[in-house]
Amino acid sequence: KIYTDYFLDEEDFDKNHFRYKKLSIPDGVEAKPLAVPPVLKPDKVSGNDVWYTIESIESKVQLLPGKATKTWGYNAPILGKTMVLKRGQHVHVKLKNSLPELTTYHWHGMEVPGPITDGGCHAPVYPGEEKEIEFTVNQPAALTWLHAHPCPSTAAQVWMGLAMGVVVTDDQEAKLPIPKNYGVDEFPVILQDRTYHKDNQLDYRADYDAMGILGETPLINGTIRPYIDVTTQKVRLLFLGGSNRREWRLHFDDDIVMTQIAGDDSFLPHPVKMTKIMVTPGERLQVVVDFSGYHEGDVVNLYTDDFKLIEFRIHHFEKDDSIIPDTLFEPKLPEVDPDLPVRKVTMDEHNMMNNKQFSMQRIDMKQKVGQAEYWDVTNTNTKEHGMIHPFHIHGTHFTVVSRNGHEPFPNEYGYKDTIPVRPGETVRLRVEFPLLGVFMYHCHIIEHEDAGMMAQIEIFDSDHPKKYHLMDMETL
Ligand code: C2O
Ligand code: CU
Repeated sequence: KIYTDYFLDEEDFDKNHFRYKKLSIPDGVEAKPLAVPPVLKPDKVSGNDVWYTIESIESKVQLLPGKATKTWGYNAPILGKTMVLKRGQHVHVKLKNSLPELTTYHWHGMEVPGPITDGGCHAPVYPGEEKEIEFTVNQPAALTWLHAHPCPSTAAQVWMGLAMGVVVTDDQEAKLPIPKNYGVDEFPVILQDRTYHKDNQLDYRADYDAMGILGETPLINGTIRPYIDVTTQKVRLLFLGGSNRREWRLHFDDDIVMTQIAGDDSFLPHPVKMTKIMVTPGERLQVVVDFSGYHEGDVVNLYTDDFKLIEFRIHHFEKDDSIIPDTLFEPKLPEVDPDLPVRKVTMDEHNMMNNKQFSMQRIDMKQKVGQAEYWDVTNTNTKEHGMIHPFHIHGTHFTVVSRNGHEPFPNEYGYKDTIPVRPGETVRLRVEFPLLGVFMYHCHIIEHEDAGMMAQIEIFDSDHPKKYHLMDMETL
């Protein structure tokens, strides 16, 4: 079966709402090969332990003709390198801040303790400072990511470039005969959009919109007009929704089938074939595209809506033995005690969550570590005035149980940590936290999050009570 729609309803798309901006390419920008972030090298490896340094830096990049654009990045002028971690590894990371303001290092999709290691608002690293964290990787293969998360300037810092891919690998993935030759038949695709002002500079304040910022120019892995040289029949694309607000509605020329193999935090149980996929802020979707219908010299385009996003230039195909097995992953579905009440979370008008604005000092909910619960997450917006809010939880993955009482979408059966919720919709999630800590949950339209559509949960163990030092915005 091949699905041919976005699953979400057209009337809810961002393009129908609130000062939507179409994408365009500024004059004089030449097509360039898609930048593929190099793999981040560890400082040291010893047995099962691995050491890294991640430094936030100020830099500049030649994005447009004329002046270079000032950007921020992790060990790179913009975005970062790709960190590749193996399941079971014990990882030590030195977090260095060489920016003129405080930042934090949030591991979106990584199951690490909160709130310090997790790197949300409570873990500031001040300018010139260095901090160390460590954690053990204990989750299935997936593309997760690292991004800045200081409250309330997450959006502004991500806008400058602070986001990078963190790939988790495991033995099970190693056995799958899927394309996995990084930079050859496997490409990360970080989807972003930006607007450039005088002298080609970013100006977050000038663009600010409490509904979420839409940039006018696409920026894919930091490349404005990218092409990919296709040298194998099958190509695996790791899409990451890295924009502050924009949803990406992706489809190819000739409606080539995209076979989705993985979601946010795991492979899907079975591959799902689609001609259209939507990626909302925070989400990751991995697909395999088969170009066997094309020949050397052909050019195939990937679009978002009707805008040409990436050109795929077909070359002579090298030998390609990859196949996509029918079974990829077996998700664990922890049992939920039927006597437990269902948790209710609402994303409301005026950037509120459960009718409150975020406060760093307030713990909004508590859940027992290792105990699965149902969360009913509702977008209380109306269809006329509302929008899709992608709901994200730190420090864990979840599985989708239902949407307004109906089956989840066919591509939602793996582990996820970010889920688009439509106006008027309630999505039921099965949520279990593996580790202790205080964690944020919020809308991943980053301006909504910064404006207060965010809350915190404490994950506790009654036998080992803990006290947390919660920062305050004023005392940061
Ligand atoms: Cu990617 Cu709290 O976010
Ligand atoms: Cu939102």
